[in-house]
Amino acid sequence: MITSAAAAAHPNIAFIKYWGNQDEFLRIPANGSISMNLEGLETRTTVEFDTKLEEDELVINGEPTSSEALDRVSLTLDHIRRLADLETAARVISQNTFPTGTGIASSASAFAALALAAATALGLCLSERELSQLARLGSGSACRSIPGGFVEWKAGKDHNSSYAETLAVPEYWDLVDFIVLISSEHKHVSSSQGHSLAGSSPLQEARVKDADRRLEICRQAILERDFSSFAEIVEQDCILMHSVMMSSTPPLYYWQPKTLEIIEAVREWRKEGLQVCFTIDAGPNVHVLCPGSEAEAVKRRLTAVANIRSLLKCTPGGPAWLLEPEISGV
Ligand code: PMV
Repeated sequence: MITSAAAAAHPNIAFIKYWGNQDEFLRIPANGSISMNLEGLETRTTVEFDTKLEEDELVINGEPTSSEALDRVSLTLDHIRRLADLETAARVISQNTFPTGTGIASSASAFAALALAAATALGLCLSERELSQLARLGSGSACRSIPGGFVEWKAGKDHNSSYAETLAVPEYWDLVDFIVLISSEHKHVSSSQGHSLAGSSPLQEARVKDADRRLEICRQAILERDFSSFAEIVEQDCILMHSVMMSSTPPLYYWQPKTLEIIEAVREWRKEGLQVCFTIDAGPNVHVLCPGSEAEAVKRRLTAVANIRSLLKCTPGGPAWLLEPEISGV
């Protein structure tokens, strides 16, 4: 017997970052975070629970995957199977619509789509909050790809209190994220490994202690569509996270010379009066953020910077959603 469902989700970009866990296994973060879902990029996932299967199977972008990736997926599936009181193995087929090898992290959209598809396939009727909690178990930031638009993940203390909710719907603020692709190189250190190193930096404690202040400023800036306050706090938060990364043992340097070149250009353009700011995740690519009204000017300037591999334009995206069964298995 086979029961299946398909779902999709957008990745997200964090404005206030998640880095370090209170609980590594349950991925309860050291601090809350705020992000925006990225319309224009998505992961589509089909989950088929099949009584004929002996163990879980995972195919990403048409390729069988590493045992490490499969273990992580099986762990999330185990939680969902427990809720449904079932032991059947599943075939998971996942496809990213964004170009592969771009260095854009897909674990957030992947685990959000997986949680929604698997729970639906097993007939579980879960709330958005419960789906967000489940997605978090696979990849912390995935809990922010379940709700739509501008999203806040309350750190919480345990599985039930750690989940994400919408702060504002996608239409609330016309914000654009240009992802400047600098390198397609695979991350040398995964974010899961990175989180476990955060506590080895003497700066992490101060970063976490100050998180409520940054969250409050960022939340207000989004709700008031105040780009100036938003720009200052987003850049400060990004630099705090990268300072922790660079000062952990062993240190993590994700930037490349081009990363710094874009940072300097963006800061210069803002001084000249352009509404623009940057943020960077666990990789060298730079996310350049601006109001929609500045998008053309920002794009012109970015394309004039030499040696950028390419540029992706994203706008605020909606929540994770179910796909019609006929387009499952894409
Ligand atoms: O969800 P993870 O384990 O891939 O961690 C994401 C970490 C950052 O992207 C660097 C920050 C964030 O909040 O998304």
